[in-house]
Amino acid sequence: MSCSDQLIVGRARALTHTASHTALAGFGRCCTINAACAAYFHVVPKSYDRLAGSYKVLEQLAFGRLLHKVREQAVDELLDKLEPHQQVLILGEGDGRFLQSLTHKCKTPCHITCIDKSAQMLARAQAKVTPTADLHVNFVLADATRDIPLDTYDVIISLFFLDNFAATTLQTLIPKLANHLTHQGIWLLADFRQAKYGLAVWRSRMWLWLMYRFFRFVTDIEADQLVDPTRLFKEHGFLQLERQSFQHGFVVLETWQKEHTQPLKR
Ligand SMILES: C[S@@+](CC[C@H](N)C(=O)[O-])C[C@H]1O[C@@H](n2cnc3c(N)ncnc32)[C@H](O)[C@@H]1O
Repeated sequence: MSCSDQLIVGRARALTHTASHTALAGFGRCCTINAACAAYFHVVPKSYDRLAGSYKVLEQLAFGRLLHKVREQAVDELLDKLEPHQQVLILGEGDGRFLQSLTHKCKTPCHITCIDKSAQMLARAQAKVTPTADLHVNFVLADATRDIPLDTYDVIISLFFLDNFAATTLQTLIPKLANHLTHQGIWLLADFRQAKYGLAVWRSRMWLWLMYRFFRFVTDIEADQLVDPTRLFKEHGFLQLERQSFQHGFVVLETWQKEHTQPLKR
């Protein structure tokens, strides 16, 4: 820890300490919590590390079991397509709930590479998984827009990951990742979408507005609005095999297959 970090931590501790000792009972407790939060947010830079511990609870408060259901469907979709000894790449795994379910259900020997930019998220994912002789899991702390460990994968999985990026990044990221996918490889994705009909339009508009404000305040996400990557997938040689929609199209789970290779435009 550098001197300036120690100073910040020291100031943070002092804040918490002062708050807890000077305030009256209930009010004091409230101040302590506020001071601790302020201190924590002061010390930990904007990133998903800040959310790792509370991510599951926040998600459940906002959406109940919706995203859990989508992840479980994604696991079943993957197991339906997975062939023995294939290479699977999981982008932005988060706290490991998809991986945990996959490793419980999977009876097919395969090799999984799991990339996340957040050390805290990756540590949580790692703690949830017990690799077996048939199931190799490689955890990589990396920025998926820059470093992809292997050249080719048979399956790419991105759950609530692409919605972190602005249109300009997606325009290079999707073809770049497509180049890491084997011919007829599968890309399984789940993401939020703007609902198209009825009251759901207003509901999704409100949630998306709130979510982007929240995530941009707490983490370092680049996007400030949702970009639908469908056109990019089609332009880069993907064919949509399946599509499931949840809550009137507010969340989608899509299976794309790489049909032909497009030269990467730089
Ligand atoms: C919204 S969370 C989704 C987590 C999980 N896939 C799920 O289903 O809940 C996005 C995850 O992507 C990771 N992430 C964001 N940008 C990334 C990047 N450029 N490279 C690697 N991981 C990234 C974050 O650290 C976070 O864990």
